[in-house]
Amino acid sequence: MSAVVMDGKALAAEIKQALRKRCAALSRPPRLAVVLVGDDPASAVYVRNKEQDCAQCGISCADHRLPSGTSQAELLALIDTLNRDEAVDGILVQMPLPAHLDAGQVLRAIAPAKDVDAFHPENVGLLHLGQPRYLPCTPAGILALLKKYGIDPAGKHCVVVGRSNIVGKPLALLLLQADATVTVCHSKTPDLADQCRRADILVSAAGQVGLITADMVRPHAVVIDVAMNRGADGRLCGDVDFGAVAQRADYITPVPGGVGPMTRAMLMENTYQAALGRESR
Ligand code: GUN
Repeated sequence: MSAVVMDGKALAAEIKQALRKRCAALSRPPRLAVVLVGDDPASAVYVRNKEQDCAQCGISCADHRLPSGTSQAELLALIDTLNRDEAVDGILVQMPLPAHLDAGQVLRAIAPAKDVDAFHPENVGLLHLGQPRYLPCTPAGILALLKKYGIDPAGKHCVVVGRSNIVGKPLALLLLQADATVTVCHSKTPDLADQCRRADILVSAAGQVGLITADMVRPHAVVIDVAMNRGADGRLCGDVDFGAVAQRADYITPVPGGVGPMTRAMLMENTYQAALGRESR
């Protein structure tokens, strides 16, 4: 038997089409400012994809590309300008930043109401309290994908591999708030395979090619692959041994075409929400 492949690309396209109508109903198009520092090729691809998503949704996208030698003060000055700019609804600073920059200070400088990534400590705190201003994009995309396929986390055992601030930690919280029982695993977890085998819903966000093999997956599990790795052949792949795991799981996400497009669709949703919030002020 082979698992249902969860089509994030198709669902993201549906979400963006619906958003296009909602954006058109606002008094002006929402505006997202994207800040990219340096010339990391992967970041440049992410930013280009976000620009395409904005175009598809009728969101205006302002690109701010800064050289890799940009100072902390220069970057903070740009964020201050964007915070004050009445025409800007959302601000995204593409991570990772060059090593000489203090990412934490940069994220804290973004006005929480414009923080469509939901990375600002105030927004992280609101999420922890169960009163989110914006949902973090990747976790929200995963929950939307589960919902689309009729998978309710309530009462399920979810195992999340990875404890990053962007994915693992906020996803664990959202799943908990959706009444799942959640285990978070990481590089120091003894016997990862044993933990993974307990999962009704297994999410891997470790960034390690081939980490999740079929023997680590309980029959009939739902397997979500968040990672974006380059395989030995140079092709994009996740953490999960897709071919073998698909023979064991009931549902599985592909890489690419699974979580990635859903993350970007949720960014568009947050940008719309930011514009809506400012319009109704
Ligand atoms: N780099 C990798 N993922 C993300 C993301 O979701 N937001 C930002 N700003 N940078 C990233």
